[in-house]
Amino acid sequence: GAGWPGLIAAYADRVAVPPGAKPITLFEGGTPLLPAPALSQLVGADVWLKIEGANPTGSFKDRGMTVAVTHALASGAKAVICASTGNTSASAAAYAARAGMTCAVLIPEGKIATGKLAQAVVYGAKILQVQGNFDDCLELARKTAASHEEIALVNSVNPVRIEGQKTAAFEICDVLGDAPDIHILPVGNAGNITAYWKGYSEYRTDGISDRLPRMFGFQAAGAAPLVLGHPISDPETIATAIRIGAPASWNGAINARDASDGLIDMVTDEQILDAYRLLATTEGVFVEPASAASIAGLLATAADGRLPKGARVVCTVTGNGLKDPQTALMTLTAPTVIPVVAEAVADALDLT
Ligand code: F0G
Repeated sequence: GAGWPGLIAAYADRVAVPPGAKPITLFEGGTPLLPAPALSQLVGADVWLKIEGANPTGSFKDRGMTVAVTHALASGAKAVICASTGNTSASAAAYAARAGMTCAVLIPEGKIATGKLAQAVVYGAKILQVQGNFDDCLELARKTAASHEEIALVNSVNPVRIEGQKTAAFEICDVLGDAPDIHILPVGNAGNITAYWKGYSEYRTDGISDRLPRMFGFQAAGAAPLVLGHPISDPETIATAIRIGAPASWNGAINARDASDGLIDMVTDEQILDAYRLLATTEGVFVEPASAASIAGLLATAADGRLPKGARVVCTVTGNGLKDPQTALMTLTAPTVIPVVAEAVADALDLT
């Protein structure tokens, strides 16, 4: 029989699409919820990883994009447009291709990971590298969509994106039998924390789950407007996916934090890279740097006592590590080069 049918079909009663619309799907969602035994032992909690890099284009953005592009096509739009730090553009380009639509992406010049740029290129998007940051790109995308009705904006300011992304919370509750005590995730434009909170809240309201998790969001220290309490004009971090100074879903993030008795804090690039390596070398999970902000936040809150011992914790790791091979190779020790000689192998591996 058929496998996972994609999230519009899997959650047909909870994710609205226009009547008669043809779903544009790559069978996104249904991603693994993986136990993390090494991290669990390290922090004294029951830690699980929601592996969003297993989505068709390698990030959680596919959840929102299947719904957004389904709506865009049904509404008669001919094209979609988005601003992106890389993953939204990769996803929009793929779903637009699937729908037979044109896709335009606005990306900050020189500041998106190479794998993501490669995706937009190969999926056939019209790529505009903007001489500005993500926030500038979003403003341009909004203006363009507002003045051209045949072009649909598919950033998470489009509420149907949130409808798709909330399904990750449903999947977690479906697997665990209830919501976790704590949910940790990276925060950039703040659509995803808004979406998870909506998903958890809907399941609770409808009696499918008993609990609501505390939402712990983590920004990069150089791009932490929600922590500072005001937008910043010059965000900077190695985690380019979350290099954002003026999050569009600001209120959604603050509401998720406050309504859940949660927190939004920041982690340094060094903490992010340490967590990135630890996750790969102890759990076998290779994520992109922004995703490791979840794990850095897990470690930081465990270290300072904010993470209750024994809590059930789900960390979303938002994107696949292969998205950003340059950071991987730049920040780790380069491989040793040897001649085609058996002794050289033994020498290099310190074997006697
Ligand atoms: N992690 C990854 C890998 C991302 O690509 C993003 C956002 C986030 C976390 C943060 O999620 O914005 O909902 O708070 N990427 C967007 C993009 C901005 O353009 O791909 P958020």
